[in-house]
Amino acid sequence: MGYLHELISISHKAKRLERHWRPHLNRTRQAILRIANSTPNKDTIIVFGSGVLLDAPIEELSNMFKKVILLDIYHTRDTLKKLIQYKNVTVLPRDLSGIAEALWEQYKDGKKLRYLPEPLSTYNSLTKNVSLAVSLNLLTQLSFVPTVFLSRFKKISITQEAISCWKESFCTAHIKALNGLDCPKCIVTDHESLCKDFSGRIIARNSTVFEDANHISESADIFLQLMEKNGWRRFDCWQWDINPAGEKSKDMAEQLTVSAFYKCG
Ligand SMILES: C[S@@+](CC[C@H](N)C(=O)[O-])C[C@H]1O[C@@H](n2cnc3c(N)ncnc32)[C@H](O)[C@@H]1O
Repeated sequence: MGYLHELISISHKAKRLERHWRPHLNRTRQAILRIANSTPNKDTIIVFGSGVLLDAPIEELSNMFKKVILLDIYHTRDTLKKLIQYKNVTVLPRDLSGIAEALWEQYKDGKKLRYLPEPLSTYNSLTKNVSLAVSLNLLTQLSFVPTVFLSRFKKISITQEAISCWKESFCTAHIKALNGLDCPKCIVTDHESLCKDFSGRIIARNSTVFEDANHISESADIFLQLMEKNGWRRFDCWQWDINPAGEKSKDMAEQLTVSAFYKCG
């Protein structure tokens, strides 16, 4: 469906933009370690969206916890090779949104999209006896591949508005599922995109979680309000130079605002 393609392209981009991405990747690792260190029960940690291990401090987590579970929709051969040395680290290949199969079935069946499958909003079966759950730069990516995949359908009997709502429902379902876990949890995620001109002046500000076109400036803040309302404490925030000038556009740079949140059990 494109998940493997995405993983490969993120690995290449991380190498190409190493200098620009390094501060974000380090800050993510530090945020996770801060929470991991302060978690009293060091039995099992589960990391959602471990990907190609760009931002997961595997060595430290492997030393700190009895068991480390890395969940992603796909683990590349290189990733599995890197993990061989850590005897207490296991991988769990899972579609966390639970929609890929339903979408694929409709594609196979004449490329007609009849309905938009609802993303999973409970992870209880995945997290028995887990002492800490971490969502790792995953929240805004959950809808990415499924939304791009829709363009491969020949016939779609669903409105654009319904597709926009569906996209947002991946984020709300993920937060609901994390809220439902009875262990401490941490989310590191981008939630705002800033486009800057060559002088550093902000020329566009958009939410990367909710994209209500009518409320662009407010929608960038709705996510923070939602997290606060759900009892999440924001303990760190930084900018990620995801697309420096020259990457997507010659004169414009794109930065993402990334925050780290914590919620106890
Ligand atoms: C932006 S990457 C996060 C970076 C990642 N932590 C790393 O170091 O490579 C988003 C990750 O979410 C994973 N992902 C996206 N949709 C998923 C799903 N439905 N279930 C599980 N993982 C998913 C992707 O495969 C990717 O590894």
